[in-house]
Amino acid sequence: MRIFSGIQPTGSKHLGNYIGAITQYVAGQERGEALFCIVDLHATTMPYDPVELRRSLYDLTALLLAAGLDPKRCILFRQADVMEHTELCWLLCSVTELGRLQRMHQFRDKSTTQRELVSAGLLFYPVLQAADVLAYRATEVPVGEDQREHLELMRDVARRFNARFGGGDEVLVVPEHRIPEVGARIMDLQDPTKKMSTTGGSEQGTVYVLDEPKVIEKKFKSAVTDSGSEVRRAPEKPGVSNLIEILAAVRGVAPEAVEGELAGARYGELKAAVAAAVIDYLRPVAERYGDLRSDEAALESILADGAERARKIAGETLGDVRERMGVGARRAGRPS
Ligand code: AMP
Ligand code: TRP
Repeated sequence: MRIFSGIQPTGSKHLGNYIGAITQYVAGQERGEALFCIVDLHATTMPYDPVELRRSLYDLTALLLAAGLDPKRCILFRQADVMEHTELCWLLCSVTELGRLQRMHQFRDKSTTQRELVSAGLLFYPVLQAADVLAYRATEVPVGEDQREHLELMRDVARRFNARFGGGDEVLVVPEHRIPEVGARIMDLQDPTKKMSTTGGSEQGTVYVLDEPKVIEKKFKSAVTDSGSEVRRAPEKPGVSNLIEILAAVRGVAPEAVEGELAGARYGELKAAVAAAVIDYLRPVAERYGDLRSDEAALESILADGAERARKIAGETLGDVRERMGVGARRAGRPS
């Protein structure tokens, strides 16, 4: 099994990213060969500041290490360091339907709300994402529920490539989406009908991984709950359901267990329990983060080493893809 996931170096990471993605990465490195990529090229598809991008990249690298990614047990690298990603993106364009890209939710949402230039990069974002994964012939992609459409596209692109150029061989592997069982969609504490997010959500409703314990406590205390008083999950109780899900995810138990334990409790007790559990859960990450973030040379060296290992795998795939597509020089020693 080979696991691959990518994460954007933009903004501060919040509890949704942490539970929905980062903890899955940490678990992934125990289950198989794992690659984690900080996707700086994807970050250029929206208006951005180059200096800020570099800074955020180090922030995220340090955060991932603080969360428990271990460069000895996984390959952690920066997307732009491995040129095979951009090359494969172009090559996959030949089997990607334009209309499909134009209909993708992310493109439609971002292109309509954006006042500045809507870049072609935004349209091609999912093709680059497909290239990220397919370059490694990864079998599993741990990401949140919001990435479903991107996963479907990349599976399709792999199938189309194999059908068009594979001659019956599985040149590119069709990967599986791995959604966490609990915590795939953490909602905004102030508006629990919207997912917690750096861009769309409210400041008060978004818990950042590096928030001070006092701030975390305040955010949970002021979380919006629902009418009624029972601590249980229900579609008409999105606020309470979200708090139960969060508590279950950070404790590593099923939501039913939380409901059982807090049956008869008041909403205030639920909020206090979630706040305390989240503070305990994030404290060690914040403690490790400071030291890791202060040594940029060490972070660079970890990323460089990761890129070198990644390039070896991606280079082989690209060799096969070029050969099958008939582009570039013929590979030495191979029949046509
Ligand atoms: P992003 O920071 O938007 O690039 O997201 C990084 C990862 O976090 C992706 O795998 C997302 O699926 C996941 N993610 C983002 N927001 C949430 C959320 N509110 N709940 C669960 N997972 C999320
Ligand atoms: N689009 C993903 C997100 O916003 C980030 C990403 C880029 C990714 N390339 C990837 C995720 C490859 C999984 C696999 O979260």
